[in-house]
Amino acid sequence: MRAECGGCAHAVRECRASDAPLIYSVELSSFKPHDIYSPEILKFLCAYCGDSSYVYLACNDVVGYIITCIEGGAAHVISLAVRPEYRRRGIGRALLCTALNLLARGRVSEVFLEVRVSNEPALRLYTSAGFTISEVLRGYYGDGEDGYRLRLRDREAARRFCTGRRAAC
Ligand SMILES: CC(C)(COP(=O)(O)OP(=O)(O)OC[C@H]1O[C@@H](n2cnc3c(N)ncnc32)[C@H](O)[C@@H]1OP(=O)(O)O)[C@@H](O)C(=O)NCCC(=O)NCCS
Repeated sequence: MRAECGGCAHAVRECRASDAPLIYSVELSSFKPHDIYSPEILKFLCAYCGDSSYVYLACNDVVGYIITCIEGGAAHVISLAVRPEYRRRGIGRALLCTALNLLARGRVSEVFLEVRVSNEPALRLYTSAGFTISEVLRGYYGDGEDGYRLRLRDREAARRFCTGRRAAC
């Protein structure tokens, strides 16, 4: 995806190991300390899962990313975040759709992820895409908070959610 927004290029492209420091800075602005991956782990994930992980660029700066790894026949969304000042413009949806397209195109049979039970914005995003709760993960997070594991297997729901909507400037 490429677009022009107020004289500034917006684009989504596959993640590279060299993106790790910029992804780390998005993480720092987006997650509690317990949930932040180190730059070394991010570098490994970008290299290992690079063909299913993406960065969102605005004016050549990384303002959002999604790390998705293919595990067997499933896509596991390991991490997704958008810089606070770029939120509510459809960037999270655009990034999530890179994972949902793996399902819509038949490369995987499901997409799954974990989310804090208190994370309302993320839960709204995922449930509006058609994800449903498959498990409650007691004490899953480092500070003891519970998590939900969410899954989506419905290809049509994934297609509907991702068709005809673009991130706004
Ligand atoms: C979750 C996150 C990635 C969403 O990114 P975003 O770019 O703001 O999301 P979008 O603009 O694409 O929003 C898509 C939909 O998600 C839901 N949503 C997103 N933010 C929301 C909020 N603050 N409150 C309620 N619903 C919200 C809405 O349904 C929204 O659709 P709408 O704008 O048409 O109402 C972003 O809030 C974020 O980075 N949060 C911190 C990191 C995080 O929690 N990541 C998820 C870990 S599992």
